[in-house]
Amino acid sequence: MKVAIITGASSGIGWEAALEIDRRFRSLDELWIVGRNEEKLRVLSKHLHHANRIIIMDVTDPADMDAFEDVLTKLRPNIRMLFQSAGEGLHGRFDSMKRQDGAEMVKLNCEALTNIASVCLPYMRAGSHIINLASSVAFMPIPSFGVYCASKAYVLSFSKSLGMELRKRKIHVTAVCPGPVDTPFFDKSERFFGPVWPIKKFIMNNPKSVAFKAICDAGVGMRVSFDTPPIALACLLGKIFL
Ligand SMILES: NC(=O)c1ccc[n+]([C@@H]2O[C@H](COP(=O)([O-])OP(=O)(O)OC[C@H]3O[C@@H](n4cnc5c(N)ncnc54)[C@H](OP(=O)(O)O)[C@@H]3O)[C@@H](O)[C@H]2O)c1
Repeated sequence: MKVAIITGASSGIGWEAALEIDRRFRSLDELWIVGRNEEKLRVLSKHLHHANRIIIMDVTDPADMDAFEDVLTKLRPNIRMLFQSAGEGLHGRFDSMKRQDGAEMVKLNCEALTNIASVCLPYMRAGSHIINLASSVAFMPIPSFGVYCASKAYVLSFSKSLGMELRKRKIHVTAVCPGPVDTPFFDKSERFFGPVWPIKKFIMNNPKSVAFKAICDAGVGMRVSFDTPPIALACLLGKIFL
């Protein structure tokens, strides 16, 4: 059974990735859409043409991760694509954050992403793709966004290393590094710690374009995907100067 697994499918970039994968890859047998919000996943499920499986899961919960691993062991799918979009970015000064806020971001953005890759890899073969959502901030440390920037630098570095390691198995890994994207991501960010840098509002891309570009770039074997040329340039400058 050929499947694509999309985490963070209940919203934003993950939601659009599920729709794009559904449109583009006719040979898949099933899409597995992962998230905590069952209601939203049910709505997405109705929009998909492929058979699909809703996996209600908190990716940071070890019990849920064990249950997910059990499903994989039982069904032994041929995972053609793993699109990891589950993530969050809380905004605010580190010295005014609660201890759990930073730790939870690291747990979700780094640990859970690593765990999902680990449990899925045994079911991936030559020609399969892993697409991990990093961010342009992986290249640029930003005050009041420090833990998030660092967590995405982890995703970028991990994805590049993993891609090198898996080259012989012909499994491709792409780190996606978009600039600001218009999704509910910022609602949560702002709800916790106040307004995000206002200029971001004017330069936001839409999640559909980001998902489309990421899947195209993965298809041609890009190790890193930028959503637009200005964001690619900003990342290059960030890498050189920051
Ligand atoms: N928006 C941006 O500007 C931007 C820019 C660069 C990179 N990114 C990255 O892109 C990815 C997607 O973000 P987005 O903008 O699409 O945000 P979003 O609309 O808020 O989506 C986040 C997704 O993560 C899922 N999620 C969060 N915590 C989870 C948990 N504990 N277990 C399972 N799923 C969980 C949410 O699903 P449930 O609530 O159903 O669990 C939701 O589907 C993130 O990794 C983010 O860091 C975003």
